[in-house]
Amino acid sequence: MEIIKWRESFKTGVTSMDDQHKTLLELINQLYSILRGHRERNEISDIVDVCLNYAQKHLHDEEQLLIEYDFPELQEQVDHHAQFIETVNTFKNRLADSPETVVPELYTFLRTWWLSHVVEIDKKYGPYLQEKGVE
Ligand SMILES: [Fe+2]
Repeated sequence: MEIIKWRESFKTGVTSMDDQHKTLLELINQLYSILRGHRERNEISDIVDVCLNYAQKHLHDEEQLLIEYDFPELQEQVDHHAQFIETVNTFKNRLADSPETVVPELYTFLRTWWLSHVVEIDKKYGPYLQEKGVE
C-alpha cells in the first residue's frame, strides 16, 4: 500500500481547511513510515496520539467553520465526524493490548478515512464557503 501524496485536486478551496488536511495527511504518512521502520513502542504511540489528536482538532475546527457559515449539509459532516471519533475510540481501547496488530489496522483505517473525508465529503463545502467569501 502506497502513501497518499498531496495533489491539487484534493483542495476544497478553503485555505485553512486545506492546510489542516495536508498536515493530517503528513501525520498519517509519518505513521506509515514509522510502521515500516520497526520503531520503539513509545515512538509509535506518540505519533498515534499526535495524529489522532490533530484529527479531532481538525474536525472540531471544521464544524465550527460550517456552523459559522450555516452550511446546509452540516448534519452529514457532524455524523461523519462522530462516526470517526467512535471508531478511533475503539482503536484506542485496543491499542494498549496489542499495538503490533492494531497500529497497522489503524493506519489502513486512517488512510481510507482521509480519502473519503476529504475527497467525498469535504469537497462539498468548498464552493459553498467560497461563495460566502471564505478563502
Ligand atoms: Fe476535513
